[in-house]
Amino acid sequence: MSVYPIILSQTSLTNRDTLTYPFEERGLQFGDGIYEVIRIYQGSYYLITEHVNRLFRSAEAIKLDLPFSKQEITSLLHDLLTQNEMASDGIVYLQATRGSAPRTHAFPPDTPANVYAYVRDMPRKTKNLTNGASAITERDTRWENCYIKSLNLLPNVLAKQKAQENGSYEAILERDGKVTECSSSNIYLVKDGKIYTHPATNRILHGCVRMRVEQFAADLDIPFVEQAFSVEDIANADELFLSSSTSEIMPIVEVDSNQVADGLPGKTTQKLQSAYEKDAGLVKERI
Ligand SMILES: Cc1ncc(COP(=O)(O)O)c(C=O)c1O
Repeated sequence: MSVYPIILSQTSLTNRDTLTYPFEERGLQFGDGIYEVIRIYQGSYYLITEHVNRLFRSAEAIKLDLPFSKQEITSLLHDLLTQNEMASDGIVYLQATRGSAPRTHAFPPDTPANVYAYVRDMPRKTKNLTNGASAITERDTRWENCYIKSLNLLPNVLAKQKAQENGSYEAILERDGKVTECSSSNIYLVKDGKIYTHPATNRILHGCVRMRVEQFAADLDIPFVEQAFSVEDIANADELFLSSSTSEIMPIVEVDSNQVADGLPGKTTQKLQSAYEKDAGLVKERI
């Protein structure tokens, strides 16, 4: 945990690591808020503009007034790294809620948002990036507005827990016969040289890394098809991979205890991983 977080509005810091809120706080009581997780490599942000844009899109979607402009929060986020002398690989977690007020469902009048952000170390997941990871499949029981990066993560938490109890890295979510995304990442299937993924509708989070995957695919002349696939399609996939700010572009080599193709990371996935490493200014660290 960092010594210097960003804190805006009705929050205070009682000691180095403890932020205090009144118990009537809308993030705590309703999950009435939004968040972002931004990747840091060697003390520098990756895709910060995309994350700040999505933060504002989420805020608009839930009618939350943020107490800063895009430029102001970007500048505060840069100050956060400087103050913490951040030089390693890590993340910033930023959360904004509808503030502290007596508990009633409707929006409280004249209540400023509670906002905080902090930085913490997070090394790259080099082993999984090189060797691939396993996943389970699970029903997607979330609401219809998954494009909002809302604090309400209970279905995601339960799905990820089930994956972990199964010794798996991720849970692949399925709704109405189609794979949407994973509990905390987007997912892609490669078949006959094309990448298939769920379209960027309200049923998935529009990942910042997903945007880059689309760009990398275009640069590499690999068709990027926004067409959902089914769990059954995975049995005939050539490759499967996921993407997120913390998992990067990660091969999935096993689903529900069945190998994906030959059970090894595929060539298309590896090309995209190299493009990611180049884009993020990373030296080749996968082992
Ligand atoms: C449900 C879900 N989908 C996708 C993603 C990937 O988003 P990004 O690439 O912006 O990290 C995340 C990231 O946390 C997520 O929680």
